[in-house]
Amino acid sequence: MSDGEIHVLDLFAGTGGLTAGFHAGSARFRSVGAVEMDRAAAASYAASFPETPVSPGRIEDWLERGDLPKNVDVVVGGPPCQGFSTLGRQDAEDERNTLWRQYARTLVLTQPKYFVVENVAAFARSPQYLDFVAETGPTGSLRDYAFQHRILNAADYGSPQLRKRAVLIGYHRDLEFPGFPEPTHAAEPTLNGLKPYVTVGQALKGVPLEPDKDDVRDRVTHFHSIPMPGEFSPRDLHWSRTYTMLSRNRFANIPEGGNRFDLPADLLAPCWVKHKTGSGDVMGRLRSDRPSVTIRTEFFKPEKGRYIHPKADRAITHYEAALLQGFPTEHRFIGNRGEIARQIGNAVPIPLGAAIARQLAKQF
Ligand SMILES: C[S@@+](CC[C@H](N)C(=O)[O-])C[C@H]1O[C@@H](n2cnc3c(N)ncnc32)[C@H](O)[C@@H]1O
Repeated sequence: MSDGEIHVLDLFAGTGGLTAGFHAGSARFRSVGAVEMDRAAAASYAASFPETPVSPGRIEDWLERGDLPKNVDVVVGGPPCQGFSTLGRQDAEDERNTLWRQYARTLVLTQPKYFVVENVAAFARSPQYLDFVAETGPTGSLRDYAFQHRILNAADYGSPQLRKRAVLIGYHRDLEFPGFPEPTHAAEPTLNGLKPYVTVGQALKGVPLEPDKDDVRDRVTHFHSIPMPGEFSPRDLHWSRTYTMLSRNRFANIPEGGNRFDLPADLLAPCWVKHKTGSGDVMGRLRSDRPSVTIRTEFFKPEKGRYIHPKADRAITHYEAALLQGFPTEHRFIGNRGEIARQIGNAVPIPLGAAIARQLAKQF
């Protein structure tokens, strides 16, 4: 270990968006371990951070084996976030809840100075959140720790994307709360020096309107002897998709910032004719002069959200989604089209992770 290094352990690491953010935030962060169940995501992580030991498998099994890294300063990670809000406390043994226990167990075993949890904004209203609060109480397993939480919007930290997330910053009670990073950007920049939001137009500047990387899609790599598609740089992911004539006609009729409500009657799907209200994002077209909506895991399907390119009659490509998430050019992706989309959509935007990392680095 060299002087000034801060050791980070990434749980539920995905492709490593949060790790990439920490590395971008300060060169002092060194990743000493990552745990990820999804094989393609773990392979991407390993290819992107070759010096970090990656455990491809369930966190439960990793804890059981007990080969945890030593001298961990910061634990980061977001246990999976599906279906928080509707669960009652009687579902305490629900698997997702167990994952929170695994996160807490890792904290007890590694005794970091700080920890960071990122999750969907609804997490702060979930039973799991209350469990976490209870665990840091006087009789809980995390009684040596305290934490604060806040909803942060990635766009406020220079991301070209509106993405609100619950962020918990925890600290050992011997230390002080590091605080949340101050926003650097705003929708309406004010006199106190904030910069204007970064826009989709700025993020996608110079990207060819015509996807041009279909020829690299057949590449194969091996992860633990298993063949998988890859490796791909973000730029390699500018892949085309085949659309029906009907879809292309629909896209052509939707202006920037528009959506399915702009379509003439003959281009409406029967279910849209019946439902004249509802999400304005279905079949929405992004605007060049604003940040994007939240990039989710099915951004390549225009029927799933506001994912039509501002100028081209198609959904954004995987490359464009990676740019909106802020992935650096040196990141590597492994997996099929759906797996890589999931890795991109699940990630913490790099500028948000970097802002959190800078805040923490000041404490060391
Ligand atoms: C929201 S994603 C994490 C994204 C990541 N923080 C990033 O910035 O790229 C959550 C990850 O948890 C993984 N996961 C789910 N259950 C798991 C388990 N039991 N053990 C390890 N990983 C698990 C999923 O495969 C998924 O990749």
